[in-house]
Amino acid sequence: MRTVRTVSGLRAALAGARRDGRSIGLVPTMGFLHEGHTSLIDRAAAECDEVVVSLFVNPTQFNDPGDLAAYPRDEARDAALAAEAGAHLLFAPSPDEVYPDGFSTTISVRGVTEPLEGSHRGVSHFDGVTTVVTKLFNMVGPDVAYFGQKDAQQALVVRKLVRDLDMPIEIVVAPTVREPDGLALSSRNVRLNGQRDRAPALHRALRAAEDAVAAGERDAATVRAAALAALKPYAVEPEYLELVTTDTLAAVDTIDSEVLLAVAAQIGGVRLIDNTILTPSLTPPRAPDEAHPHQIARPDGRRR
Ligand code: PAJ
Repeated sequence: MRTVRTVSGLRAALAGARRDGRSIGLVPTMGFLHEGHTSLIDRAAAECDEVVVSLFVNPTQFNDPGDLAAYPRDEARDAALAAEAGAHLLFAPSPDEVYPDGFSTTISVRGVTEPLEGSHRGVSHFDGVTTVVTKLFNMVGPDVAYFGQKDAQQALVVRKLVRDLDMPIEIVVAPTVREPDGLALSSRNVRLNGQRDRAPALHRALRAAEDAVAAGERDAATVRAAALAALKPYAVEPEYLELVTTDTLAAVDTIDSEVLLAVAAQIGGVRLIDNTILTPSLTPPRAPDEAHPHQIARPDGRRR
């Protein structure tokens, strides 16, 4: 695997692949790679001839300067992990290479950037993401780009970006990789320190909601309450915990098709996000006369 730091070096390195019609896969990252990232690189290596991993801690998407300053970095380790996962090229530009003097263009996707993350981090966070992702797409010229379901709203925003601007790039969204206790892998997890035991709270909340839907619950407010109750033992107050449609992120009252449940919370000063897709079709809805769905049925069929 080679590392390149300039756009011209990147283009030169990819010229042969492009000339020969070999497919190019891109995995954009901010580094400090973990198995969530390497699952995307593995997938790209299985599906594309040439795999580019970009490593750039993009300053314009950080709304909190402290978060940017504390963002973990280890390029040597990242290079080893990317190569092991099957990357051919690591693109690790400097901030000046990406944002040279006089840079003044912003790409803004509207409609799906305002709720959830947008309402807490501000839409400028997504402007930073969509601007740098557009630049990376123009620099690399990939056929396929890989994103994680862990950042469900980001993946949706990127899909909309590509569709709205007619970019000839297939967007693949791969499942969230988790620790054994359910915590979604994140580069920020190393900063949890003494608060690590509270971090599975988010996944517990998602599971509680999934269980309620599996038991036949279809009322969004009731499912949301079950998720909030699961956060309580961990003393975690979410920034948001919302049930929304998977395409427009509009609030949902009744779960009668796939619904995105997304949660964000600060734990020990570290901001964590997670999500799940609630799928009502897997179970029949609760009958209207079942007033207390979570009670345990007795062998005689009556409720306790
Ligand atoms: P970063 O947080 O480094 O994530 C890079 C990619 O890895 C994203 O597509 C993210 O969704 C995915 N990812 C992160 N954790 C994951 C997990 N536990 N399981 C599966 N995939 C996971 O997201 C960004 O960087 C930036 O916003 C970026 C797109 C690079 C633009 O700067």
